[in-house]
Amino acid sequence: MKASFVSSALALALFGVSAANAVTVTIGCGSSGGDVQFCQRYAEEWAKKTGNTVKNFSPPTSASEKLALFRQLFAAKSGDIDVIQTDVTWPGTLKDHLVDLNKYAPNAAKEYFPALLANNTVDGKLLALPWYTDAGLLYYRKDLLEKYKEKVPGTWEEFTATAKKIQEAERKAGVADFHGLVFQAKAYEGLTCNAIEWVASHGGGTIVEPDGRISINNPKAIAGLKMAASWVGDIAPRGVLNYEEEDARGVFQNGKALFMRNWPYAYAPSQKADSPIKGKVGVAPLPKAAGAAKGAAALGGWSLAVSKYSKNVDAAADLALYMAGAAIQKDRAINAGFNPTRPEVYKDKEVVATNPFVTSLEEVFVNATPRPATVAGLKYNEVSQAFWDATHEVLSGKAKAEDAVKKLEGKLNQVRRGKW
Ligand code: GLC
Repeated sequence: MKASFVSSALALALFGVSAANAVTVTIGCGSSGGDVQFCQRYAEEWAKKTGNTVKNFSPPTSASEKLALFRQLFAAKSGDIDVIQTDVTWPGTLKDHLVDLNKYAPNAAKEYFPALLANNTVDGKLLALPWYTDAGLLYYRKDLLEKYKEKVPGTWEEFTATAKKIQEAERKAGVADFHGLVFQAKAYEGLTCNAIEWVASHGGGTIVEPDGRISINNPKAIAGLKMAASWVGDIAPRGVLNYEEEDARGVFQNGKALFMRNWPYAYAPSQKADSPIKGKVGVAPLPKAAGAAKGAAALGGWSLAVSKYSKNVDAAADLALYMAGAAIQKDRAINAGFNPTRPEVYKDKEVVATNPFVTSLEEVFVNATPRPATVAGLKYNEVSQAFWDATHEVLSGKAKAEDAVKKLEGKLNQVRRGKW
């Protein structure tokens, strides 16, 4: 008690914040792997340093439910939350509700990757500070590939065959609930990410192309969706139809799956001392269809933004800047596997030595496939929802891929209503 009083008093003296100016700032931290602990720890650190108080607001785990909730709060002009994490696809949708951070981050252009800043800039306003960047990856069990003398698959065909073979062998060996594959196929934004990878890695485009053309009704896209549908109830449990990221990680980390599609954050917890698969995990680019030009990894990532309805915009912006700073990004990269958004952190020797994604998988990140958020702007969420619903119907066997993409094309034409 005494010590904390002394240290807060010291902080107040050092940082020149008078108790009278101290405010409470509420931040919505993420929910994947170590995100919440790291976010809370550093928000508390900021609070101590500045004499302010932070409150953590736990949003839902699904990116789509997060967006729905923030839209509700913003529609009500609620001041309940000051700093939020925004998804890479959200700036167009939330543009009227976020503070322009240019004034608070005058050197941003020199500090962050230009493409990420451009993504977060709408009508010249910098709506969010890039915090970490994501791309879809293939996780595999090194020990099991070795045991069954299989290679890391380069094509989906090899991938499916290997998953089938090892699933059968492990089940025969007594692991009754062992699966070849886990991924995210609940009807939400995560399914859009998984499915755009299947479609794009077959050469089937990205649902809506950058020029606005609705491309999803094509034979290669259909082949990608059919492939994934054939996995459900075979190499993947039917339960994937209700899985988000953390559900897939739970099964994989328990040693009950050979392959997992997930984001970089899933690596660090798999290597913790108490993880049953510590030392047994490899990470590779996702496979491509035989004959297709290249594989595809969905581009993801999160930023920090300040609500326009915050009663303490200056303090909230200060917290966002602090969290997105180089020191915290470095720690999160090393200890929680979140990929930095500042070039300088990638040059840090400790980061290079400990974060496997920074070096060997650089290509995956550089060439990641964006969802059609820029072209669809405010209508992106409707596009994505129509796509994940159609995909979910195909995966659960309720619709044929051919029919689903035809219907989806019609629906997207309605959403576009003449122009994006
Ligand atoms: C990850 C990605 C994000 C994506 C989400 C979908 O959090 O970073 O961009 O929308 O997964 O579940």
